[in-house]
Amino acid sequence: MENNEDLFKKIIGHCKEYGFIFQSSEIYDGLSAAYDYGPNGIELKNNIKEYWWKSMVNMNENIVGIDSAIFMHPKIWKASGHVDAFNDPLIDNKDSKKRYRADILIEDFIKKIENKIQKDIAKARQKFGDQFDEKQFISTNKRIIDREKRIKDINNKFNQAISNKNLSKVKTLIEELDIKCPISGTCNWTDVRQFNLMFKTEMGSTSESSSEIFLRPETAQGIFVNFLNVQKSSRLKIPFGIAQIGKAFRNEIIARQFIFRMREFEQMEMQFFVKPGDEIKWYDYWKGTRLKWHENLNLGKDNYRFHDHENLAHYANAACDIEFKFPFGFKELEGIHSRTDFDLNAHIKYSGKKMQYFDPEINQHYTPYVVETSIGLDRMFLAILSSSFKEEKINENETRTVLKIPPQISPVKLAVLPLTKKDNLPKKAREILHSLQINFSCQYEEKDSIGKRYRRQDAIGTPYCITIDHETLENNSVTLRNRDDMSQERVMISDLKSIIETKLDLSSLLS
Ligand code: GAP
Repeated sequence: MENNEDLFKKIIGHCKEYGFIFQSSEIYDGLSAAYDYGPNGIELKNNIKEYWWKSMVNMNENIVGIDSAIFMHPKIWKASGHVDAFNDPLIDNKDSKKRYRADILIEDFIKKIENKIQKDIAKARQKFGDQFDEKQFISTNKRIIDREKRIKDINNKFNQAISNKNLSKVKTLIEELDIKCPISGTCNWTDVRQFNLMFKTEMGSTSESSSEIFLRPETAQGIFVNFLNVQKSSRLKIPFGIAQIGKAFRNEIIARQFIFRMREFEQMEMQFFVKPGDEIKWYDYWKGTRLKWHENLNLGKDNYRFHDHENLAHYANAACDIEFKFPFGFKELEGIHSRTDFDLNAHIKYSGKKMQYFDPEINQHYTPYVVETSIGLDRMFLAILSSSFKEEKINENETRTVLKIPPQISPVKLAVLPLTKKDNLPKKAREILHSLQINFSCQYEEKDSIGKRYRRQDAIGTPYCITIDHETLENNSVTLRNRDDMSQERVMISDLKSIIETKLDLSSLLS
């Protein structure tokens, strides 16, 4: 059986071969942690954005969108805390000269203990069969109890060291756990240092007039600083939300796992402004709503789980991640944070501007509390692609690679395929293509056998193929082939549009 690492490599290869994702600057040997989206990639990305935007903005009367600039006044990042605290702890191995994130070294160590626990559970399940009670086993098996206690101890030590800003304790923990550099195999570590993740650049044409500014590390601050502009111009009443999709930049120390952790990526964020005291009610609401949005895509309910944060950032009073089961394990896909009034109050303080909301219902001014939902578009892309990638045996000698992407968001919706290049079939096929391409993203293909063409469409996830054959010329019917079960049905050309519209209607996901 193939392991997950091999599967992941296959998915990355598939992305390149079929025009989804290319390494940035590939002909110059690539630029680390930056990727370009190809023709199929951009279609899928746009469809994910549309699904998010429709569900957030178009389907909620009290949520509006904005598109704020990437460049913002540098004081914004002082106010938000990013200048002083948007850091990752880094450590170098003196022998291999490789750099690591100290927290990730510890996280990976914990993961190894967790894997041992999972192995013990799997063994016991095999031994006891139907009688196996997992909950009871976990709560009574001494080895598992000891391992879980060890994980808790490590987490506590790490969190305490970080919150006390005691980086030497982080190094001591790495040494105590005997964590070795995967390259040199030694524990010859430097001290741990904090590394700020923001990219800096200069704005202005002369050195005297230029000022240092940052590329935004999150889109959220563009929403906070526009909060009153939007509220007043759209005459919104609390509770209301502001949504934004846009690029964010982080100088990640180590960027691994393909598009999972990039230095330039895209976020889809929504800040929901509520009355102080109502925030936990809305936090629970958005947790449920966002999980439902994910589950509606039918990528498998078991692929999601919540990770509630125990150690909260100083500005949050509740926070969790929606984690997704990527080929390399469960990892954060989306964050939902109750950020209190921290950001707005910080901007009030640093800008000196009044930014309070006047609540006509209670005749009072106050600083609203904020519940945020924040999802990485690229991570969502990877979640869809990795869970849709299937290799299926279709008969004794043949397998197919198929992307079972939810049809409503597939990059290409329809392929129009004349059975042969002869007998006026291409002419008829192009007529059909022209009648459908205004409504659906279509591809036209006449080269190679029909079987090969079906395989190519399967590989990019096209949910429906329309085949034009000699019978079409006689009675205006075509074959409609379904990607997932490869079934075929004969339908009239005049019915095609309405049949396909019903099958691909985004509202079936949104309702
Ligand atoms: N405004 C809140 C915020 O930015 P975050 O947890 O730092 O919170 C939100 O980021 C989401 O952005 C994450 O859940 C993840 O999906 C995505 N994200 C963060 N860093 C990323 C990176 N380096 N590459 C790709 N996606 C990233």
